[in-house]
Amino acid sequence: MKNEIEEQYKFMNKVNELNTGKELKYSIFTMGCQLNENDSEKICGILEKMGYSKVDDINEADIVCFNTCCVRENAEDKLFGKIGEMKRQKEKKGTIIAIGGCMMQEKHIVEKLHSSYPYVDIIFGTHTLHKLPEDIYKILEERKRIDDVIDIDGEVYEGLPIKRDDIIKASVTIMYGCNNFCSYCIVPYVRGRERSRDYEDILNEVRNLAQNGYKEITLLGQNVNSYDGGENYKFSNLLYDVNKIDGIERIRFVSPHPKDFTEDVIEAIKKCDKVCKIIHLPLQSGSSKVLKSMNRKYTKEQFINLAEKMKESIPEVVFSTDIIVGFPGETEEDFEDTLDVVKKVNFEQVYMFIYSRRVGTPGDKMENQIPEEIKHKRFDRLKTLVESGISKNNQKYIGTIQKVLVEGQSKNNPNMLTGRTDSNKVVIFEGTKDLIHSIIDLKIVSEHMWYLKGKII
Ligand code: 5AD
Ligand code: SF4
Repeated sequence: MKNEIEEQYKFMNKVNELNTGKELKYSIFTMGCQLNENDSEKICGILEKMGYSKVDDINEADIVCFNTCCVRENAEDKLFGKIGEMKRQKEKKGTIIAIGGCMMQEKHIVEKLHSSYPYVDIIFGTHTLHKLPEDIYKILEERKRIDDVIDIDGEVYEGLPIKRDDIIKASVTIMYGCNNFCSYCIVPYVRGRERSRDYEDILNEVRNLAQNGYKEITLLGQNVNSYDGGENYKFSNLLYDVNKIDGIERIRFVSPHPKDFTEDVIEAIKKCDKVCKIIHLPLQSGSSKVLKSMNRKYTKEQFINLAEKMKESIPEVVFSTDIIVGFPGETEEDFEDTLDVVKKVNFEQVYMFIYSRRVGTPGDKMENQIPEEIKHKRFDRLKTLVESGISKNNQKYIGTIQKVLVEGQSKNNPNMLTGRTDSNKVVIFEGTKDLIHSIIDLKIVSEHMWYLKGKII
């Protein structure tokens, strides 16, 4: 495995030599989840090692990379639109086009790229990202289109270069793939089975980040709490060990599965002072019947009990969640069960999705698909309920003192700074630039649905 990465470093050096003095540039488009964003940071690391520097304006780029997502349908239209727009630039300046990520693991997408967008240079999958240096080298040398997608689970590769987007918050992937096969979800088909990184590699990465001034770490995986470091080293052990690392002040993790919130994980969240007390608890549906056909492995009652149990054991814990509306067979009654759980659990944040049929998943083959119009109406009803919950919830912050990690200047008003609470709420406040990247106490003075206003005390 190590040799494979050493090989790739050789290709990075070779391309770097070819590019010397040319001042070449790259652009990257990332779709999808935080795991994809983390993969894109690795792609950027690779490209920079090869002598390319980043530009926002795609027209200036000599190589354009798309890191795709296929969890929901709309990403496809977006990708094909963008690739279509690239045709003229390709003809004019020979820009290299590389497309990678989850969508490339889907045969029908690759076929469409071959037939309608033959000018794409490199297609790489989720298991072959580490071979991008070799692929780019071959394109530069041979100018032949490359398909580098494999169907078997990739190895866990360590040591690729990485160019991080932020200097204070960092994501660290701890495991790849998913074994759960929720019936709506394409992820297990495009990311393969679960593979965990060695915990020493993870801890070394976090120690290194701490030494470089990073304060907030997000542990990433499709199913983080089924992390298996071997020798009985589990997700809870990892939380304790990351918690011990000096310099790290906040630990978050996404995405866990409710079925894997074992006692030891709950205990670790409680005991680790740096673990933020907002826990992502993806509900998906509040109906036990729908949950069963989604293959989620818990019922409505078990979900509510889990949330209650965590509220009892972890003082001040709050939850965020994911919900899908309009899964096949969802009746009005089933949907009301979802609304009921939303009311009972009182989520701090809800990511809402309209069910999207994914080719190859059991959900796509189910007969009782819900008409689009009903899906959209239910989505709007859920959204109304969620928004009223959020504004009610926000009230509890007013007058409290919150620890806020200051991220930077507010985009809308450069005189204001913006940061986040432990519970991931955006706080806007007046302050001087020297506060950026520190954690400070703020008094919350007002709420505005999607953000709070604070005051330095
Ligand atoms: N349709 C709609 N939402 C989906 N998700 C996953 N697959 C689908 C789909 N086919 C949502 C789930 C998951 C989140 C990342 O995306 O809520 O938790
Ligand atoms: Fe998809 Fe379910 Fe795996 Fe999450 S746990 S990635 S929703 S199959």
